[in-house]
Amino acid sequence: MYKIIDGKKIAAELRLKIKSDVSDFKKNTGRDIGLAVVLVGDNQASQIYVRNKIKACEEVGIKSFAYYMPKETSQNELNALISELALDENLHGILVQLPLPEHINSEEALKLIPESKDVDGFSANNIGNLCLNGKSLVACTPNGVMKMLEYEQINLNGKNSVVVGRSNIVGKPMAMLLLNANSTVTVCHSRTVNLKEHCLNADVIVAAVGKAKFITADMVKEGAVVIDVGMNKDENGRLCGDVDFENVKEKCSYISPVPGGVGPMTITMLMYNTYISASRSAN
Ligand code: GUN
Repeated sequence: MYKIIDGKKIAAELRLKIKSDVSDFKKNTGRDIGLAVVLVGDNQASQIYVRNKIKACEEVGIKSFAYYMPKETSQNELNALISELALDENLHGILVQLPLPEHINSEEALKLIPESKDVDGFSANNIGNLCLNGKSLVACTPNGVMKMLEYEQINLNGKNSVVVGRSNIVGKPMAMLLLNANSTVTVCHSRTVNLKEHCLNADVIVAAVGKAKFITADMVKEGAVVIDVGMNKDENGRLCGDVDFENVKEKCSYISPVPGGVGPMTITMLMYNTYISASRSAN
């Protein structure tokens, strides 16, 4: 018998807690918490993400400052804006929505976000601190996955975890978080030989490959925990994950669905990081 991990419900509970923490922060310091959201160009998916991030800010009481820049924005113009936001004491977080237009060097722009305001957790310092098990702002999606596992009291100690996908945004920080939780971690990717064998050995699978229904039932051990980070379209144009949910679920002890799994957690963790950044700046 499998249990569905309800990301929507966990995210809603967390947002209530964040809302109350934000309200306490305001009472105690007399200050607002501010998040800058920068969108360059007119990528449709990015527009939806940004709108949802601003909505989440309203929900938890964080003040958002949106900067919409045209797709022709130059590297210098974007760099200048980020440098200005970096100095603004009313801002505790700066989020530059990715992907940026092709003529912009993302790494150069993101490097201008100070570590303390890097609420995406993408900077070299924050990733480095995560590896050293120090105080870092952790990338939102993998941190959301950890909160889901924690909520369900899934014990990771000594368990075999397989992360499928090695992106800087999800796969790599995910592997580090699982390692920090004393799991034995294998990171699989497009060049991995015998992917199925690795997956069959896993107590926990985190699928973050970006391929619809890529993880099939024959790859999953009886009783495994399966977390699906994928956001794909199926053959009918409907949102689906990296896991063949209908066939895989019967083999699992826990499984997260798409939609309604990891997705709602990501923006919640952005709110969490912004609150953490503000409270660190106040101390
Ligand atoms: N684009 C897709 N996901 C993300 C994210 O988590 N942060 C940013 N900044 N851009 C994204």
